[in-house]
Amino acid sequence: MSEQLPRKKRILSGIQPTGTFTLGNYVGAVRNWGALQTEEHECLYMIADLHALTVRQEPAKLRRNTREAAAMLLAAGIDPARSLLFVQSHVPAHTQLSWALSCCTQFGELSRMTQYKDKSAKHPDNVNAGLFTYPVLMAADILIYNADLVPVGIDQKQHLELARNIAQRFNGLYSPTFTMPEPYILKAGAKIMSLQEPDKKMSKSDTNANSFVLMTDDADTILRKFKRAVTDSDGVVRASEDKPGVTNLMTIYSVFTGKDFEAIEKEFDGQGYGAFKEAVAQSVIDGLAPIQGEYKRILEDKDYVDGVLKQGAEQASRLADRMVAKVYKKIGLLQL
Ligand code: TRP
Repeated sequence: MSEQLPRKKRILSGIQPTGTFTLGNYVGAVRNWGALQTEEHECLYMIADLHALTVRQEPAKLRRNTREAAAMLLAAGIDPARSLLFVQSHVPAHTQLSWALSCCTQFGELSRMTQYKDKSAKHPDNVNAGLFTYPVLMAADILIYNADLVPVGIDQKQHLELARNIAQRFNGLYSPTFTMPEPYILKAGAKIMSLQEPDKKMSKSDTNANSFVLMTDDADTILRKFKRAVTDSDGVVRASEDKPGVTNLMTIYSVFTGKDFEAIEKEFDGQGYGAFKEAVAQSVIDGLAPIQGEYKRILEDKDYVDGVLKQGAEQASRLADRMVAKVYKKIGLLQL
């Protein structure tokens, strides 16, 4: 064959193990991670336990959350035969690269990160240095594998831009080393909003448990939460900027049924929100049922989960160690 096969694009993404994933995590991130496992991509998916340490964690809980996150990712379609799934702290090269990159990152750049500003305002009693250097570690996560594409939510876009700036700076200071990563931001359903305050992102740290659906919620809970979802008073199922609650429900329904907004508007034409909310809830219940079944099964098989993570860490380490050796040599660290 004369034609050369195009190089596979390498994809890297990470998610923090901060407890059971929400419907928002699934729709906005995890679902897409599964869908990206095609012939054209080489996927690396990481549980960012080191990033989770930037807010105070209960050790036993963090350990449990990490294994549960792995089980949920496997249940939601991450296939270890096609992707590398690993835990960030199991690949020490990330932190090794992070130090080198932090010396190519300016204090001013990090102080401009909006997430840092938001988080330090939210936890004024724990504005730790890790919270500040968090984006450098994230840059290391990405650059260490020469990732081409990084699926992230809008809230991580600034961090990705910083990673690009660091890569460019390093490449210019030394020699071409890092691939410039591109953000991969999905439009449809990228951001699922709170069911109670639909102008806020759905978050499990919300004090109102009715504002989010957890991946492990049972059918009754899911139905109850959708029935209580905040909408508006005009009673028309139509997507519009001034109808954030209804639009959010339509987005969820669209993701789980594959129907577009036009079809959804037609389907519920002349019906109140009651029937609509029940239909949305049912689509979520049906969509999550197989994942929940798998999750339960996989979580019981601790050896399987740990085996997948071990293999993922070994393979990722092989790639990551090579990059660290290359970088350490370039920056002038003595190698024996
Ligand atoms: N910071 C990301 C978040 O909280 C998680 C993350 C860590 C990540 N490292 C990454 C995402 C590398 C993409 C690429 O959502």
